[in-house]
Amino acid sequence: MDKTIRIALIPGDGVGPEVMAEAVPCLAWARSRGRNLETLPLPYGADHFLRTGETLPGTAFAELRDGCDAILFGAVGDPRVPDGRHAEEILLRLRQGLDLTVNFRPCKPRVPRSGPALDIEVFRENTEGPYCLQGSTEPGRAIDLAVHTEPAVRRLLEAAFDHARARGCTLTLAHKANVLKHGHGLWMRVFQDLQRTFPEVPAKGMHADALLCALVQDPSPFGVIAADNYLGDLISDLTAAFVGGMGVAPSLSWAPHRPHRCSALAEPVHGSAPDLAGQGLANPVGMLLSTALLFRHLGWEPEAGALEAAVAEALEAGARTRDLGGNLGTVAMGAAIRDRLPQ
Ligand code: NAI
Ligand code: MG
Repeated sequence: MDKTIRIALIPGDGVGPEVMAEAVPCLAWARSRGRNLETLPLPYGADHFLRTGETLPGTAFAELRDGCDAILFGAVGDPRVPDGRHAEEILLRLRQGLDLTVNFRPCKPRVPRSGPALDIEVFRENTEGPYCLQGSTEPGRAIDLAVHTEPAVRRLLEAAFDHARARGCTLTLAHKANVLKHGHGLWMRVFQDLQRTFPEVPAKGMHADALLCALVQDPSPFGVIAADNYLGDLISDLTAAFVGGMGVAPSLSWAPHRPHRCSALAEPVHGSAPDLAGQGLANPVGMLLSTALLFRHLGWEPEAGALEAAVAEALEAGARTRDLGGNLGTVAMGAAIRDRLPQ
């Protein structure tokens, strides 16, 4: 028998638990098909923080890092914690503490769209850049530092080149090396170095502002887009808008160099959507497609493919939550998808 895969579940805040509740039966389905997995539900989020003052305790982090294989994550962020302290500590601790350098955000059309074909995959560096929380505020002056290190940049770009080669598509690096001379200068040097290692990949750098304009005009020529943490965050929300919006965008983060037992985290691209929370209206598609990405990462390709096919079939049959112009709630949409899974 395969070794038991232990998956931690962190539903978090807002719509996080609502979409997570639709993913959990998919884990049970994978188990019913012979996948040897167990889950570890964890309570961290705003409720837990407000009750106990804990964000993600060190002991829980160590248990995740050394005692689990992967994490399925909902979203964090709650209006009751206006400075977002708990969210920052939980998410950044996971991403940085587990060295989850690569944040993979595929954008494939999920609902019929007019215009040219489109299949963009964003590789976003997930642990550094301006999101390193270093800086200071003084009267009349505020500083946010952006830290870029060669090992993380190289790991991200290697993963992006590798993926573009396997797919046989172009690779575009989004940067602003014209002004961010130090940080993005480092990105350019590593990029140019890897262009020599991957000569078969058509690869070029583009200033991020010009890239955004080109994407809106015609996204069809783009394949893999690589970017630092900040630019990748922005670009992947834009590309999500091409394919149905925040509710349908999945992501998987991983540590290519696997420094710990736990080296992957799957989560929808969206946040906790306080405007929808508690109403049963959130679209679970982003969460379920993230679960499929996790299955693929674990080597469970038949389950990954079947779950993606079930999402596609449900959408083709007209199943829609409100964000997609329909009237299904979260639970009905989840059921419409799961009903299409092979038993
Ligand atoms: P958001 O992604 O939560 O919401 C943006 C828009 O997308 C809203 O109109 C929302 O209703 C819609 N939306 C989001 N998820 C949806 C779903 N599943 N189905 C249908 N519509 C959906 O981003 P926002 O408003 O910027 O942030 C809200 C909170 O989430 C903040 O506290 C923020 O810090 C946090 N956040 C957390 C993230 C995470 O946990 N990874 C990522 C992004 C934001
Ligand atoms: Mg974002």
